[in-house]
Amino acid sequence: MASEEKSIHISYKEISNISKLPEMDKRAMDMAISAADRAYAPYSNFKVGTAIILEGGLIVTGSNQENAAYPSGLCAERVAVFSAASEYPNRLIEKVMIVAKRKNGEIVPISPCGSCRQVLLEYEDKQSMPIIVTITDKNGSLIEFSSINSLLPFGFNREQIK
Ligand code: THU
Repeated sequence: MASEEKSIHISYKEISNISKLPEMDKRAMDMAISAADRAYAPYSNFKVGTAIILEGGLIVTGSNQENAAYPSGLCAERVAVFSAASEYPNRLIEKVMIVAKRKNGEIVPISPCGSCRQVLLEYEDKQSMPIIVTITDKNGSLIEFSSINSLLPFGFNREQIK
């Protein structure tokens, strides 16, 4: 056969409400919401907060940090994961929760940008354990992805530069 059509199936979980989350996740989600309030986003006025649950229940947060030289700013997800990885390099990353707020404070659904997926993929590969990603959806519901790989199939990874 010269060519064959193939497909990838991505499964994800829909969670109707934050109250349905396990206690630890609920706490992390609340911390992501407050982290968004600490964003430095004077240019976009779009505030993003991330909370990362590390092995042992430690939670590290981050928010987007913008800059007058626009591309020098960084997304909340990378601020959080770089902070977690530099402070606790040997702790497994279990979950990443992401929340975004418009200027009026309204929580809006977002999923991580391509660069953040790429960065998170590196840590997922490094620890050989999937990182669960939880994002908000409409009407207070949540979406949970079971790995970064499912958000970035065919991602560039460290095996490829060996
Ligand atoms: N942003 C994040 O922090 N995370 C995302 O997943 C998407 C975008 C930030 C970057 C910029 O400061 C602002 O949101 C508008 O793009």
